[in-house]
Parts: sequence; C-alpha cells; structure tokens
Amino acid sequence: MSAAPLYILGIDTSCDDTGVGIVELTAGGVQVRANRIWTQAVHAQYGGVMPELASREHVERIDAVMGDALAEAGLKVSDIGAVAATSGPGLVGALLVGLMYGKGLAQALDVPFFAAHHLEGHIFAAASEDNLQAPYLALVVSGGHTHLFDVPEEGRYVLVGATRDDAAGEAFDKIARLSGLGYPGGPAIAEAALRGNPDAVPFKEPLQGQKAFEFSFSGLKTAALLAHKAGAAPEDLAASFQKAAVHVLVKTTRRAAEAYGRRTVVVSGGVAANTALREAFARTDLRVVFPGKGLNTDNGAMIALAGAAALRAGRAPSSLAAGATAYAPLANG
Ligand code: KG4
Ligand code: ZN
Repeated sequence: MSAAPLYILGIDTSCDDTGVGIVELTAGGVQVRANRIWTQAVHAQYGGVMPELASREHVERIDAVMGDALAEAGLKVSDIGAVAATSGPGLVGALLVGLMYGKGLAQALDVPFFAAHHLEGHIFAAASEDNLQAPYLALVVSGGHTHLFDVPEEGRYVLVGATRDDAAGEAFDKIARLSGLGYPGGPAIAEAALRGNPDAVPFKEPLQGQKAFEFSFSGLKTAALLAHKAGAAPEDLAASFQKAAVHVLVKTTRRAAEAYGRRTVVVSGGVAANTALREAFARTDLRVVFPGKGLNTDNGAMIALAGAAALRAGRAPSSLAAGATAYAPLANG
C-alpha cells in the first residue's frame, strides 16, 4: 500500500437511518474520520418503520448527509478513493437509494465500488476497534437480527445460532410500545429500567437447557404483555425484561465461546449500546469488544469499514450491476 491514505466512503440506507461515514485506510490500520446519521423521526408516530416513507426520506436526505460527512472529515468529494454501500439485508426500497447513490458516486469519481453486507458492517464496527483479527465469535443483536457467528478467519462466517422468532431489539421495541415507553424501545427500556426493580416481574428463561445456541424472545414478549395487563409498572417491566434478555444473550454466547474454543467475542448492532448488556459481558471471563460511540446502531462508517476490509483482503470490487436483497444470509462456511 502506498504511503498516501485512502479515504473510503460508506453508505447505509438499509432501514430508517440515512448513514454516511468515511474511514481512512493507511498501512498502519483503519480509522473512522466521519460518521453522520440522519435518524428518521417520521416513523415514531406509527411505532415501527414504514418502508415507503423510509425510502422517500433517504432520497431527500442522502445528499445533505454526505455533505455533512465530507465536512466532518475535512475532505472534498474528489478525495474519496473507494465507495461502499449496503446491498442487503434490509428494506429493498430503502437499500436501493444508498446502493444506487453509491454506485453513481463511484462511477463519477472513477473509483472502486463495494457492495457491502449489513451484518458484516455491524461486525466490523466492533472488530475495527482494536484492529481485531479473526478468530473470534460475533454476536449481532439489532432490531432485525440476533445472530451468533463463529469467525475462524477473516471473511469466513459460520452460523452458530440465531433467533427462532423475534430479534432482540425487536423485543425491546415491542415491550416498550406495549408499556407506553415510546420508540425506539431499546433506549427507552434502558432508561426506564434505571428506575425499576429487575426482580419485580418473573420471566422464565427461554429455551432453558438447550444444547444448541439458539435464541427466542417471543415468550418474553408474551410474558411482558401478561404482566402489563396485570398492572406491572412500566419501570419494573423494563428492568425485569432487560435483566432476562441480557441474561440469555450473555449465557448463550458464553456457552458458544466455550464450545468453539474462542476467547474473544465481538458484540455489535443496536442492542450492543445497552449498558446492562455491556456490564454483564464485562463480568465474564471473555475478552469482549464493542463498537465505539455512534457505531452500534446502523451507520455508514461501519459500511466504510467493511469496504476497507474488502480492500485489505484484496477482494475484487463489486459489479455495478449488484442488486439490493431483502434476504441475504452472511454464513458462508
Ligand atoms: O442496528 P440497528 O440500528 O438496526 C438494525 O439493523 O436493526 O438496531 C436498532 C435496534 C432497535 O431495536 C433499538 O431498540 C435497539 O437496537 N437499541 C437498543 C439500545 N439502543 C438501540 N436496545 C437496547 N438497549 C439500547 N440502549
Ligand atoms: Zn443494523
């Protein structure tokens, strides 16, 4: 690699955040230079993401978000040496906005383009913290995903376990909604939990005694609904649910780490911002790596980091014909 830094611009429009980030790649490693996110407030009134509204708002915002990212990095658009954009999984209409924008930008600048996998982006958001190299275990916990991967070497993802029903973040969102705590539910539950009693509402551990490494959150959701109807205080419900969710995430990940012989675990995705989850992982004997500030929830910098990893690994750029895919499993090994 030449001494000059390479600036990679990453775009994520997979759901309701318009994210553009810029990373600097040098022989010494990779560093986030800008990370701008426009969070779409329009969905709050519906208590969930409205796909068509998300697409439209991406179209309206993406230019401004890119301008902000360039300004934050102190760069001109002509300084960008490669572009990466999420191609899946996600809402297809929303994905298409960032993907087409990224392809157009790469073509106009005559630089390489990389179609990035959203979950790989989440994983790199954490792994890049310490310039971490495989092998490690990766737990991705977000609004749409609860996946546990073994990463035996860079670029190889072995699916260890996943949720059978709701994603972890989805459960936070739904329980926050039913107890009137607002949207998005993760931060609302975490905040209310500070004022609640974590032992007030008894939750049965999902899939207790299983040999596999699967997750399930729909039982917790039903139990929360019943407790709410029985008059549980929102703060107590929040604290008790958070305790149960954190317990099952940490316990299953610990068992998997032992089974796969891994000492290092990367935890990423929106739910990785949860303080109780971070504290519970810190109490284990594992080396746990979380994304830095602003890199937990969906963002463009994580996609730029995925682009940087592709460049470092010598992967060929993607075709400009690459399409958006709603369903795109990451497992390949
Ligand atoms: O990664 P992300 O932005 O989007 C997806 O790819 O799904 O994750 C969003 C999810 C939402 O469900 C949100 O409630 C949850 O992450 N979340 C949290 C916290 N912050 C965001 N969950 C628990 N605690 C938090 N502090
Ligand atoms: Zn995500």
